[in-house]
Amino acid sequence: MRDDRRILFVKCINFKAADLCSKLIRLGAEVHVMMTASAVKFISPLTFQALSKQPVKVDTFDEQDASVIAHIDLADRADVVVIAPATANLIGKMAHGLADDMLSTTLLAATSPVLVAPAMNVHMYDHPAVRHNMKLLEERGVRFIDPGVGQLACGYVGKGRMAEPEDIVEAIRSMLEPNLPLSGKKVLVTAGSTQERIDPVRYIGNDASGKTGFAIAQAARDLGAEVVLVSGPSTAEPPAGMELIRVMSAQDMFDAVLAEFADSDIIIKSAAVADYRPVETAKQKIKKQGDTLTLKLVKNPDILQTLGERKTNQFLVGFAAE
Ligand SMILES: Cc1cc2nc3c(=O)[nH]c(=O)nc-3n(C[C@H](O)[C@H](O)[C@H](O)COP(=O)(O)O)c2cc1C
Repeated sequence: MRDDRRILFVKCINFKAADLCSKLIRLGAEVHVMMTASAVKFISPLTFQALSKQPVKVDTFDEQDASVIAHIDLADRADVVVIAPATANLIGKMAHGLADDMLSTTLLAATSPVLVAPAMNVHMYDHPAVRHNMKLLEERGVRFIDPGVGQLACGYVGKGRMAEPEDIVEAIRSMLEPNLPLSGKKVLVTAGSTQERIDPVRYIGNDASGKTGFAIAQAARDLGAEVVLVSGPSTAEPPAGMELIRVMSAQDMFDAVLAEFADSDIIIKSAAVADYRPVETAKQKIKKQGDTLTLKLVKNPDILQTLGERKTNQFLVGFAAE
């Protein structure tokens, strides 16, 4: 991210938002934080003032600088507006053009790209009214970053957790720098190894850290691509800012890659896929017996060969350890 970017960052009711704010500051962005009256009940504006080194705006009528009108000035100066987390209420207000506080008024005045990171109870997120409001906003060009699945503050487990700060940073980066060499391209990368089950506690596999595929995926992301990373078991940490599909066996990887293949532009297959798998996977741990044990193996589907046969415009890259 260029270090002169000015980000208007609003809402900020949780500690993930504080983490996001500090990540943006560390990347060199100028961050101005705005909070709603309900947001300040959850976390103090002082936290964001200390992180951003800028005054935090809450009240529309708290005009500190007589030479400008604060909500218009901030709206005009933002390169991007990020709403994290976005409540169902705020999404509704945005969709219907309400302007009854500092934040909603600024949002109507802003002409820069807007990124919304919803966070709410799973049933609220699935409510037809919320869905409809999000669709309206999407049609107007507002970008959404989907919430993740997990334990929600309300006690439910489901979709509704605000996206991870590092994924929001990557989304902001791609909005601010839309003309990178791989912008608009979908890159599918495979990484890691596969595990072919012998029984519930044993498997045949290859040694692979996943580092090569992760580095390729990260480079494609930084060049502006939409990246889908299909990874088998790995020891390295996968990069943020992309869709990660975790798989175990070669057959799982085959299925995941085939499902993503048709609309991909570039496919880079760096995973260490097992060539063979046991004909049968024992349901119970195989007991020790006799001096030798014979395992009968069958060939796994050849992913690269299948893609080669089906490819139309895709650019295919295969890796092999020799
Ligand atoms: C403890 C607590 C947690 C809440 N969490 C959320 C939430 O995650 N998402 C949401 O949309 N509303 C949540 N709400 C409801 C909002 O605070 C409420 O709709 C409020 O009017 C939103 O105002 P705002 O959009 O102006 O910030 C929560 C309320 C409480 C009391």
